[in-house]
Amino acid sequence: MSILDKHALIERNATLLLVGSLLVVTVGGIVEIAPLFYLENTIEKVEGMRPYSPLELAGRDIYVREGCYVCHSQMIRPFRDEVERYGHYSLAAESMYDHPFQWGSKRTGPDLARVGDRYSNEWHVQHLIEPRSVVPESIMPSYAFLKETPLKVTDVTMNLKANRAVGVPYDDAMLENAVADLKAQADPNGDTAGLLERYPKAKVGDFDGDPQKLTEMDALVAYLQMLGTLVDFSTYDNASGYR
Ligand code: HEC
Repeated sequence: MSILDKHALIERNATLLLVGSLLVVTVGGIVEIAPLFYLENTIEKVEGMRPYSPLELAGRDIYVREGCYVCHSQMIRPFRDEVERYGHYSLAAESMYDHPFQWGSKRTGPDLARVGDRYSNEWHVQHLIEPRSVVPESIMPSYAFLKETPLKVTDVTMNLKANRAVGVPYDDAMLENAVADLKAQADPNGDTAGLLERYPKAKVGDFDGDPQKLTEMDALVAYLQMLGTLVDFSTYDNASGYR
């Protein structure tokens, strides 16, 4: 039987075609899916990654709620133009604690994966209140209300717990101190020893510029200032040759 005859046989016999298709899909599926059961091995470990501090996590939730990902990606691809503009390309480990991840697929605005430390807190607050006051041609919407909206502190422990349930390694001390850590991070005069021990490199400050109030602006700016700053790239062994 020639190959053409075999092909005709499969094409004309619905049952055979179905069985054949299932076989192909099964093999393809196993090849794609099985490695993910061993995610520990698929994500390369890097120095410096840690779960979000309670304040950063609250900020991340506001980022998701406001749909910032509709215009901003958080995924620097390993291409020269991207690396030169945004910095070291994103590593899988850098979004390992993201539920859901914020890679995004559309860049109306710039990628934000490494926006932390690029601007001052004041710049971010001013930009979020009225983007055109700092970038005249900006088409980004205003988020001025964030500075007037008190941050909901009470559900932060549950938030950490929910993340723990899906695999983020928050320990008991982190849960117990969640509210205290959140407040300490937004208070430049507070006691931050415990916070920094639990969340190394956490940036402390009065992010929204209003020491009287703990607002959603505090949380969002704390989150933005952390983005891309955790991994110490001087210790990262870069086998691919990109820098
Ligand atoms: C309608 C699209 C749109 C949405 C939604 C949007 N942005 Fe933007 N964003 C832009 C554009 C365009 C720019 C570039 C011009 C500018 O800097 O304002 C930008 C710039 C930025 C920058 C400066 C980045 C840099 O490297 O200069 C930050 C930070 C930022 N946006 C944060 C946010 C946050 C946080 C949210 C959600 C609260 C958000 N954006 C929502 C379009 C958007």
